[in-house]
Amino acid sequence: MDTLRVRAYAKVNLTLEVLGRRPDGYHQVATVLQTIGLWDDLFFSPLPQGIEVECSEPSLGGQDNLVYQAASLLQRETGVSRGVRIVVHKTIPVAGGLGGGSSDAAAALKGLVRLWGLSLPGERLHSLSACLGSDVPFFLRGGTALAQGRGEHITPLPPLRETWFVLLSPPFGDAGKTARLFRLLKPHHWNDGSRTRALVNALREGRPLRDALLFNTFEAVAQDAFPGLDAYWKGLEEATGSPAHLSGAGPSLYAIAPSPAHAADAATALRARGWRAWAVPSVTPEALP
Ligand code: C5P
Repeated sequence: MDTLRVRAYAKVNLTLEVLGRRPDGYHQVATVLQTIGLWDDLFFSPLPQGIEVECSEPSLGGQDNLVYQAASLLQRETGVSRGVRIVVHKTIPVAGGLGGGSSDAAAALKGLVRLWGLSLPGERLHSLSACLGSDVPFFLRGGTALAQGRGEHITPLPPLRETWFVLLSPPFGDAGKTARLFRLLKPHHWNDGSRTRALVNALREGRPLRDALLFNTFEAVAQDAFPGLDAYWKGLEEATGSPAHLSGAGPSLYAIAPSPAHAADAATALRARGWRAWAVPSVTPEALP
């Protein structure tokens, strides 16, 4: 078989409400996720045995990569003895709040199901994906979806009308960032899920996205967690003329743009400052084969 290629799309959180802490140490969340037109590429080629993972970011190669863990988990769970070499070309900023690592893991599961000719019921793939991380199940399908529980209970929503975003990724991400941001939240920061319910209702009624519908609990602690974030926040608002929003646990920010041309101009202005910025549309990937 020739090399198989799978795209792993990034996401933004349109809402992200942290509802409280659970006895298992995780937090209960309600979040609406949306895949966007920024992606990593994964290339799969068969090996007689073993797993090899190479990454365009050399520090992310090998066994620590979630892609390696996805392949290893699938081998163990299905008894497959064949191997694979996976090359990951990163474009999505690492530890940026855009779901890159989780999306790569979901793409690895999808690619390997095809490469190894596995017939795995959807629920089984879903529960395996949840073992890899709270955000991984969302990326098996992508598009627009509500995620609840610790993030693994997925309810698909009607596809968002094409919406253009300006993304800005400050260089502050670190590996333990998500756990650190959750720890910074105190009970008075917790929310009741009403912001997410309001957005879900709007999307089900086919209403367009508006800034007033967007919300992220982590915005209350992001400036403390990422010293220097404020300059990026203001820079994005100046370039777009729209409010900035935090994606996930940050530090990436996004703003809604009124048109693709407006988004492109704003991203160009931000890149001229030496910042990592993109103009990207919302994306609804094709359903799993
Ligand atoms: O699930 P994942 O491994 O991506 O989560 C990383 C860390 O973020 C967890 O170890 C936990 O500390 C925190 N987390 C949480 N509640 C969630 C998801 C993640 O507290 N719903």
